[in-house]
Amino acid sequence: MKILETRFMQGFIKMADDGYHQGWHERNGGNLSYRLKPDEVELIRPRLNAPGDWQPIGTEVPGLAGEFFLVTGSGKYFRNIIVDPEVCLAIIELDDAGVNYRIRWGLVEGGRPTSELPTHLMNHEVKKKLTNDRHRVIYHAHTTNIIALTFVLPLSDKVFTRELWETATECPVVFPDGVGVVGWMVPGGREIALKTAELMEKYDVVIWAHHGMFCSGEDFDLTFGLLHTVEKSAEILVKILSMNPRKLQTITPDNFRDLAKGFNVTLPEEFLYEKP
Ligand code: 13P
Ligand code: ZN
Repeated sequence: MKILETRFMQGFIKMADDGYHQGWHERNGGNLSYRLKPDEVELIRPRLNAPGDWQPIGTEVPGLAGEFFLVTGSGKYFRNIIVDPEVCLAIIELDDAGVNYRIRWGLVEGGRPTSELPTHLMNHEVKKKLTNDRHRVIYHAHTTNIIALTFVLPLSDKVFTRELWETATECPVVFPDGVGVVGWMVPGGREIALKTAELMEKYDVVIWAHHGMFCSGEDFDLTFGLLHTVEKSAEILVKILSMNPRKLQTITPDNFRDLAKGFNVTLPEEFLYEKP
């Protein structure tokens, strides 16, 4: 079967495009990975390219030895995925030790998998084990409102979970385990991957302060839906916090009187009372 016509490829591309249209993928922001099922690998095996050289993953994921992943390319723009998936995406294969990968499809103009490959694969490894092989999608997006909240809320799992839950009744139902929070770290390496994967043992959602969010799920709909719900609750919270009625400064009654003189209008005194 043509690789571009497979169900998993079409689902992947649709999800990436949906994320782009939500405004979560400026430039090359964000990345997405999918762990292929054995029958999907067999379906496309005749159309895979001859293996290239093994490259280091940058971490070890022995629990994923020999598995195949569809991943976004580093530096590729989500907005271009639907236009030219063979340039923007790659199917990679892991070696028997889970320390190297090689490209078997895609990235036809060159390049390498996302710089967050260590975090994606370490998250996959944790979730594969914990969910008895069910979770297959790891999604990273630069979600505007979650990022904004990481500047004003304490960076604690407890506070983020409770505040997000309170914004919409569906939230505790959609993410009953809560959300984990990682303080600011340099992205793109093993260190942030270790910290994120540790939190993925407990949560399906991990927030990266001043950067974005990672979600894990069974399929494209559930993973997109989870990230979408968390980001929407963050949007509601941003609006609530934005409506804080305490003003630090304002236009005073005397300013209005001066304005009235300057612009030759009458502003009735009944409106220019002193507020408590
Ligand atoms: P990549 O282009 O390497 O996937 O990086 C984007 C990103 O969001 C890094 O956190
Ligand atoms: Zn990012």
